[in-house]
Amino acid sequence: MIDPHGGVLVHKINEDCWVDETILSVELDAMALSDLEMIAIGAYSPLGGFMEKNDYLAVVEKMRLKNGLVWSIPVALPVPKWVAARIEPGDTINLEREGTIYGIMEVTDKYVPDKRKEARLVYRTEEQDHPGVKKMFERGEVYLGGPVAMVKRPANQYQEQNRTPKETRELFRKRGWKTVVGFQTRNPVHRAHEYIQKCALEQVDALFLHPLVGETKADDVPGDIRMKSYKALLEKYYPQDRVLLSVFPAAMRYAGPREAIFHAIIRKNYGCTHFIVGRDHAGVGNYYGTYDAQKIFANFTKDEIGIQTLFFENSFYCEVCGNMASVKTCPHDKKHHVALSGTKVRAMLQKGEAPPPEFSRPEVAAILIEGMRMQHLSLQEMVGKNE
Ligand code: ADX
Repeated sequence: MIDPHGGVLVHKINEDCWVDETILSVELDAMALSDLEMIAIGAYSPLGGFMEKNDYLAVVEKMRLKNGLVWSIPVALPVPKWVAARIEPGDTINLEREGTIYGIMEVTDKYVPDKRKEARLVYRTEEQDHPGVKKMFERGEVYLGGPVAMVKRPANQYQEQNRTPKETRELFRKRGWKTVVGFQTRNPVHRAHEYIQKCALEQVDALFLHPLVGETKADDVPGDIRMKSYKALLEKYYPQDRVLLSVFPAAMRYAGPREAIFHAIIRKNYGCTHFIVGRDHAGVGNYYGTYDAQKIFANFTKDEIGIQTLFFENSFYCEVCGNMASVKTCPHDKKHHVALSGTKVRAMLQKGEAPPPEFSRPEVAAILIEGMRMQHLSLQEMVGKNE
């Protein structure tokens, strides 16, 4: 079994832990709660808490922790100034959300980050039109660092698909899978995704379909609708004994290249030996070059990353070839390629129109159309109630 990043799988869940409700409690946003959970279940191994300033700076400036281990995305706990004024290093605080205490943190550091620098170096832009940058600036001005323990796991609707790295490693072992390719997605699985997954599956024992279901931007398809479509797709078109579907409850940063490294390392912690990076991985708008998320891996040795990346070209259906392809395998002109933008597909689905079967399996399209219809109805109902 592949080693976790840094050698040890972190486990910081202690649901029997006594919680002192009299100490200061800090309200977490959705992203901080998911970070807490990711740390606690070992998905972010070797992180055992939110980053102190020296780790944070090393990550922002050099894509490494202070001990030199590769790490590309800062994971600190942002709090508003007025909250920070009440906390000093040495304090123990509770971490809560909407009235429930989920964790305890031993605060060992408190610092004011240079967010413009973080934006420039991590996101490659300071523009607030970038959803990840916008979110970063909206969060608290002061960062806290220090070890955490999770005293209660947040509930989500995914139940048996919500597995910890320890559980997925155990399952891979039980099923006898020596090589497993991880696939990150925040979208429905369309034909291009299926194509690159299956190309990878030709070379390894199994596919770990690991959709991100934490916070995403408002116009991404919600996780619950996507999960239904993944299940239908896997059932009909994938070998059951060679795939595992699990959710990845982290928030999306849209940090493109930096996030690709982050995603790869995390999937190593879940036990994957291989990881797919296609075109514009974790990108948004035109902030990153199509293959920047692949190129960034050249900054590190294979051993430093530890999971083998499988890079794929932009894939599409070619009407002349009569199959899925990329420029590496198809000689025909673009006009024969079926490619639709995410915006176009969303607009079609919202109107109840299925994209062509060369783009999306009909079973997937039907679930997305129905899911969006239900979402629209419940939104209308909410607006109605508020009027
Ligand atoms: S992401 O933000 O989670 O990366 P998405 O769900 O669209 O977005 O992509 C999942 C993975 O599939 C990423 O590795 C991405 O690079 C890859 N990918 C998406 N569409 C294509 C495509 N048409 N051709 C090749 N790779 C693709």
